[in-house]
Amino acid sequence: MIHLNSGVSNYIQLLDKSYSFFSGNNYLGLSGHPEVKKASQNAIEKYGLNFAAARHTTGTADIHLELEKDLSDFKNEEDAVTFASGFMGNSILLHSLLDQYTALFIDELAHPSILEGIPREIKNIHFYKHCDVQHLEDLLRKHINQRALIITDGIFALTGKISPLQEIYTLVEKYNAILIVDDAHATGVLGKNGQGTPEHFHLQGAAQIYQTETMSKALGVYGGFISANREMINLIRESSKIYLASTSLPPPLVAAACTSVKIVKQQPGLRPALVQKADEIREGIIKLGFHTNREPTPIIPVFFNSRNQATELSGYLKEHGIIVPCVNYPVAMEKVIVRITVSVSHTRDQIENLLAILKQWRSTHDVT
Ligand SMILES: Cc1ncc(COP(=O)(O)O)c(C=O)c1O
Repeated sequence: MIHLNSGVSNYIQLLDKSYSFFSGNNYLGLSGHPEVKKASQNAIEKYGLNFAAARHTTGTADIHLELEKDLSDFKNEEDAVTFASGFMGNSILLHSLLDQYTALFIDELAHPSILEGIPREIKNIHFYKHCDVQHLEDLLRKHINQRALIITDGIFALTGKISPLQEIYTLVEKYNAILIVDDAHATGVLGKNGQGTPEHFHLQGAAQIYQTETMSKALGVYGGFISANREMINLIRESSKIYLASTSLPPPLVAAACTSVKIVKQQPGLRPALVQKADEIREGIIKLGFHTNREPTPIIPVFFNSRNQATELSGYLKEHGIIVPCVNYPVAMEKVIVRITVSVSHTRDQIENLLAILKQWRSTHDVT
């Protein structure tokens, strides 16, 4: 674990030393963007730090409504609702949809926020093998009398793998199911307009798909949101205990998120630039003989069978001024992963240096 002495950008400060930073999820470099910071500072001046009430009592401010309008426009949806963290989104949706399904079908490597969000009324829970659509269909067929809700990450946090939504959606139609996509890592990253995994697969606006999203990754801020048709959003506003019984998002975060969404909409070039940087690193490490995947996402895992070797590489990179963590959380995986995450703010020099240090390490190590 590291202890930061600075904010996170493409470099970080640990004690008095600066490190090149290939970790975290600040994909579009917005967490330290001057306009985002300024909006946040202005909001503190105007509103202070906290509205100190839940949304439905006295905690709703003009800026919450502005942000929800901006998010629904960005997502091309009728409405949106924001809440305290992305982690809560799966629970909010799974509870709000409770009278529409009787069985859950979950990717076995789903994020813990999905598992923690399962309503206690639901006893019929089935895990399908990771991204295995055939296995999912076998389970759906076996439980044909149930009303199915399928839930998966859009981009998986550890491996950067994209869930095969096109094929999953075929099953949604065939078995009259509902699909929830946890798009924490895909918002602002995947799809022509950054609307996430459904847009990546040209499924944006398709019936029976819902997304849970966060403002803490590509948007560089904090807080969760769901955008959907007006009926669904009203249902959440009226019935979600998390929404009704928790303090509204703080002003500096709300104002910062409004500005981030504006930047993401106004600068569509950020996404191809990010993909290009990620591709360059991915191609580089494949050439060096490391094991990785070929998904067009900013999460680039380097897979190891040996924990020792993975931690050794992570340590070697740190000795050479680069932070890339060895991760084994939030889901249990067979492989150990040294996870490189890319931001659009990484410079050519940083990328070349990362690949050069990896090459140096590789010259004295075999990878299994
Ligand atoms: C797939 C996934 N869902 C949900 C979350 C929770 O989002 P947040 O940290 O914004 O609460 C995360 C990570 O933090 C995640 O990786």
